[in-house]
Amino acid sequence: MEKTTSIHGMWSSRLMFVLAAAGSAVGLGNIWRFPYLTSDNGGGAFVLVYLACIAVVGLPILIAEVLIGRRGRMSPINTLRKMAKEYGTSRGWVGIGWLGIVAGVLILSFYSVVGGWTLHYSWLYVKQLFGGAPLGDPSVAFRSLLSDPLELTFWHAVFMLLTTVVVALGVEKGLERAVRFLMPALFVLLLLLVGYGFTTGHMGEAATFLFKPDFSRISGGVFLSAMGQAFFTLSLGMATMMTYGAYLPREGISIPRVVIAVALTDTSVALLAGLAIFPIVIAFGLEPAGGGPGLIFNSLPLAFEAMPLGTMYGLLFFGLLAIAAWTSSISLLEPGTAFLSEKFGLKHRKGSALLLAGVSWAVGLLSVLSLNLWSDVKVPAGVNVLGGKNIMDLIEFLANDLMLPLGGMLIALFAGWALSRTVLREELSEMPEWLFVVLRWTLRIVAPLLVLAVLAHAVI
Ligand code: PHE
Repeated sequence: MEKTTSIHGMWSSRLMFVLAAAGSAVGLGNIWRFPYLTSDNGGGAFVLVYLACIAVVGLPILIAEVLIGRRGRMSPINTLRKMAKEYGTSRGWVGIGWLGIVAGVLILSFYSVVGGWTLHYSWLYVKQLFGGAPLGDPSVAFRSLLSDPLELTFWHAVFMLLTTVVVALGVEKGLERAVRFLMPALFVLLLLLVGYGFTTGHMGEAATFLFKPDFSRISGGVFLSAMGQAFFTLSLGMATMMTYGAYLPREGISIPRVVIAVALTDTSVALLAGLAIFPIVIAFGLEPAGGGPGLIFNSLPLAFEAMPLGTMYGLLFFGLLAIAAWTSSISLLEPGTAFLSEKFGLKHRKGSALLLAGVSWAVGLLSVLSLNLWSDVKVPAGVNVLGGKNIMDLIEFLANDLMLPLGGMLIALFAGWALSRTVLREELSEMPEWLFVVLRWTLRIVAPLLVLAVLAHAVI
């Protein structure tokens, strides 16, 4: 019989699950990565493919992940091990859990570097608030940050430490309370920035760039980036949501409903971020296309400089972004930590978190160095999808664009084929029959085929 609680603890309510899962989903992926990928991939066409990926592939797999987690109630590896045994299927499925933990360590490695950037910017605005020198030309400020390995390593370490502390303490107490008011605050601030976007008089152009697809821009590469981003932004394919699902109570909670709330929050934050950033980019004479990873760091400070109380808004924005990144980074560390503490004993949770975070921090140093001392180490341009990528890009590509979709595909196949119809139906008892049938066949055939097609097209 399936268990009703997890040994790692439980979310205290449905709302808390939604907040924690949305806290995981909403992060750098929405506010840093989505705008710059849109910028680099030609605007509206990318946004359209991205939204389609969320709806057709992301949502069903999100449901599957949470459901598997809730059924198994352990860390991903042990959940899958247990289920494989109970339902008499191949033990090979446990590989999904391993893939997830490795992907988590890889993603956290560069996520923490970028999280460090947001801390650095918050600190700059704090100093400015107390009379320090203004930022000056943002692109100069950003370049000087990237060229300084020690500064980057320092903030990377601070960010990783913050992440480790929360995970070491257990997610429920500190985190539940924090997300409750921080997520709404971020939302309000984004709305404010969108409001500022209207005053620039360039909202129309920005909306055109974001929402008017230029189909000639769609290529295999655009599909791959959009698919990777859909997985990344929903924290999908690496068993994060499976782990959060393991802490989800059963009584009166419909998985599809809570999952839709999470996906809607996540998507609206990404679109709001786009609507906040592009008017500013255009108004200050920057190019909306090809902004690269520096997009928000190069553009938003211009607006903060021009706004009344701009320094305060700058601090609020980067501070909240750091917090949004933080609630995501803990969810990158949690699955592996849960697994290690099942292995070594629950009282070793702290050591487990520290060990994994240490490994991830060390891997992150590769990303730090690829921004400065090793910036010339690149795949030769034009060879294939990898052309022109530095080490940080490569790690990001491997984890986000390959491992997450692959993990997601396997999760869909597991839920669709390895779990019996009865088990699946038990977990989704509130769903109308026709929708259940659609979902099951999406998991069995449609989603895996779509992921496979995108991966194959891009890699070959
Ligand atoms: N979803 C997070 C973001 O958009 C990143 C993340 C990916 C978190 C995978 C957990 C797992 O920033």
